[in-house]
This record gives sequence, structure tokens and C-alpha cells, in this order.
Amino acid sequence: MLSYPKSKHTSKQKHIYSMFYRMSKMANPFGVTVQQRVPVLAGTCPCSSLFTKVTKTITVVKKLNVGDRTARRIVLGLGASFWAQFMSMAGSAVGAKSFIASARQKGAVEEILKNVEWPEQFPFKSEDFQRFDESPDSLFYEAPRFVTHIDDPAIAALSKYYSKVFPPSNTPGVSILDLCSSWVSHFPAGYKQERVVGVGMNEEELKRNPVLTEYVVQDLNQNPKLPFEDNLFDVITNVVSVDYITKPVDVFKEMCRVLKPGGLAIMSFSNRCFWTKAISIWTSTGDAEHVMIVGSYFHYAGGFEPPQAEDISPNPGRSDPMYVVYSTKAFTT
Ligand SMILES: C[S@@+](CC[C@H](N)C(=O)[O-])C[C@H]1O[C@@H](n2cnc3c(N)ncnc32)[C@H](O)[C@@H]1O
Repeated sequence: MLSYPKSKHTSKQKHIYSMFYRMSKMANPFGVTVQQRVPVLAGTCPCSSLFTKVTKTITVVKKLNVGDRTARRIVLGLGASFWAQFMSMAGSAVGAKSFIASARQKGAVEEILKNVEWPEQFPFKSEDFQRFDESPDSLFYEAPRFVTHIDDPAIAALSKYYSKVFPPSNTPGVSILDLCSSWVSHFPAGYKQERVVGVGMNEEELKRNPVLTEYVVQDLNQNPKLPFEDNLFDVITNVVSVDYITKPVDVFKEMCRVLKPGGLAIMSFSNRCFWTKAISIWTSTGDAEHVMIVGSYFHYAGGFEPPQAEDISPNPGRSDPMYVVYSTKAFTT
């Protein structure tokens, strides 16, 4: 039984305990343990002993779950200090630097979403989706950023992954939706479909995206309703942006509605972000938790097959990591 320690903690610290308790409840019976990286939220530097205690407590919970099997521990994403994250964001205008290389176990990411015993209710609270910068997203994305947000090997890994799972180029009747799109979608070179729609915040970026046949400027945090008919798209992509969505279950429900039955939704992400605009549960957790968080969006939106995860990182530890969490729309919704 995990309980709050008796020591005097601030309400912020208690909230973090509560979040970990809820995440530990989501862990799967394979014994995959999430090891928390030290989260550093806007000027509130949590004491490291607090986090040591939390990690230990979660490990105990997991060991109980796995019975006599050896508990495996994922140590993903060495995380980042406030300054490393800050520099990464600032770097988006000048060519962002990679975070510290991650030490990872091969195949560990793929295990994270296997046989998860999801709690009945969505385990996150409204404060988990708050951002440090709560000003309208339209302000933050007002000026175009003609930059890439992940390094070239990560982009190449994503394009290669797409080339394996996308319908063949130029397949009649195929439509693709790129959510949180910009001037690049990282589709395989020369890839085309009759209809490729981008939804994003900056019109100049979207206009310049060569794979899009049309685009919509829409703030999904203000209006999660997608302006498309039911059962329209074969594939939905979202690259390094799922962490900016503050009403993820609403957006994922909409994704399900507009996907054709059997259609594929691919959420990909690395370990960097515009820190002030990412939701607090993202900035306070590491890569393994991110996989779990995105998996939970699919699960709680309903209408999707159980989500799966894949680590497509090109050169673990040497270039940006790249993870994919994906699912298909169930045929029986
Ligand atoms: C880090 S960039 C990634 C852009 C692109 N997917 C890529 O891979 O380069 C984040 C993107 O998310 C989009 N975005 C952020 N907040 C959004 C919101 N509230 N509604 C819709 N799109 C949003 C922005 O337009 C921006 O293009």
C-alpha cells in the first residue's frame, strides 16, 4: 500500500506523490517499473530525497505485482534539468541540442503498454494538464519556426517507420491527417496521397509544408472538435506535439471519430519540448512515463484497439530518441 509519507510536504509535493501513486496503479504486470527522473517545474526544485522515496516506493509496488519474477526496471531518458530543457527550447530557433543521451534496455519500451491494467477512471487531474505558460497558444505560435524539432537521425528513423506502416504512396482514396502540423511532416521522400490535411497553429508553416494538400489553422486546446466528417482518414500522425494537448481525451475521441475503422493513429515523440507549453505531467516525467501517458489517452478515449509502443530511436544514446505510440480504430465502435 502506497501512502503519503508523514513528513511535511508542500501541496505541490503532495500533488507529485499523488501523481506517482496514480501512475504506479497504471503499471503493467510485466514488472516494468518506471523510474522517475527528477522533474523540475518552473522554479520549484523538488528535493531529491522526496523523489528517491517515491522511486523506491513504486519499485516496491511493482515487485509485489510481479510475484516471483525478477522485476525489470526501465531506465529511460536520463531526463533533463530545467536549464537543459530551457536550452533545448531556446535552441528551436537556433538548432536545438539533444538532451543527455539515454541509457536504455533494448525492447523495454515495447513492453510498457503490454497488458496494462488501466484504472477504471482516467487517472489524471486537471492540474496535470496545466502549463507554465497558460497564455493563448496563438501567441506562442504566432511567428513561424522554420526549424526542425528533432535531429536528422530521429527524423530519418520516423520517415523509415512511416514507410513501413503507411499505405503505399498514391493509393486512390487514401487520406491522411497530420495533427499539430507545421512546415514538415517527415513523411518518406516523395510520399503523396490524394488528401493530406495538416492541422496546426501557424499558417505560414502549414502553407510551406510540401506534403499537405490542405490545412486548417485550429487551436485544439480551445476547440478539440476536428472539422472533418466521420470515418474519413486512413492514418493520423502527430509528431513531437502530443505533449501540448491539454484536453487529450477529447482530441483522441475526435481522432477515433474521423479515422476509418482499422485506421491507424501514430503519436511520435522524443525527449524534448517547448517546456513552457507542455503539460505539467509531461515535463515532470520521463520517456517511459510518456509512453504510458499517451497509451492512456488511447485507452480512455475508447474506440481504439489496445495501444502499442515502439522504440525507433536510431542510435540510442547518440542522437535524439524517438518513440511511437500507436493504435488502430476498432471495427466495432
Ligand atoms: C514542436 S512543433 C512540431 C511541429 C511538427 N509536428 C514537427 O514535427 O516539426 C509543435 C507543433 O504543435 C502545434 N500545436 C501546438 N499547440 C497546438 C494547439 N493548441 N492546437 C493545434 N496545434 C498545436 C504547433 O502548431 C506546432 O506546429
